[in-house]
Amino acid sequence: MKQYISNKNIILIGMSGVGKTTVGNYVSKKLNMRFIDTDNQIILNTGKAIEDIFNEYGEEYFRVLENQIINNVSIYKRTVISTGGGVVLDKVNIYSLKNNGIIFLLKASIDTIFNNLKSNQLSSDRRPLLKGESNLRNKIKELYKKREKLYLYNADYIIDVDNKSINEVGNEIIYIFNSLYSCS
Ligand code: S3P
Repeated sequence: MKQYISNKNIILIGMSGVGKTTVGNYVSKKLNMRFIDTDNQIILNTGKAIEDIFNEYGEEYFRVLENQIINNVSIYKRTVISTGGGVVLDKVNIYSLKNNGIIFLLKASIDTIFNNLKSNQLSSDRRPLLKGESNLRNKIKELYKKREKLYLYNADYIIDVDNKSINEVGNEIIYIFNSLYSCS
């Protein structure tokens, strides 16, 4: 029987709307690991919505908060960490996360991201960079173009999420993770 032995973290990166939080939650339950969503941590620590942080203090300040959270959670063990879409913008974040984590990029087409974000209006207060965009599809494309290289370059594994269920994506991650850290 295979025995699961890793202390490593599973890190999920990718654009808004690819399902990092939902997939992360699923994976953590299945593997009996702790789950942290860095945006939720920022909300908990500051008592403010992401949108309010952007509006009151600007994106730069949000990135400082994000950087602090990443720094804190990077030393955790056996934790699934879902990150905000902009985490790759600061290479210090990636450096810290890689220290004890395997980075999985959830990769989706612009159409998938667009449809997910459209059907998830409730969470728009977490996404001020995309909020109220009359041309959401173009804004997603523009952000993705700026970040694509960073996502691809920093990923240890790339998981294509188009036309897959949460369970299918989660199980792919679990399969890879288990095959890296199992012994017979
Ligand atoms: C951001 C994505 C958001 C959140 C913030 C900034 C980005 O997280 O961190 O609004 O820069 O792409 P999600 O990826 O969970 O939407």
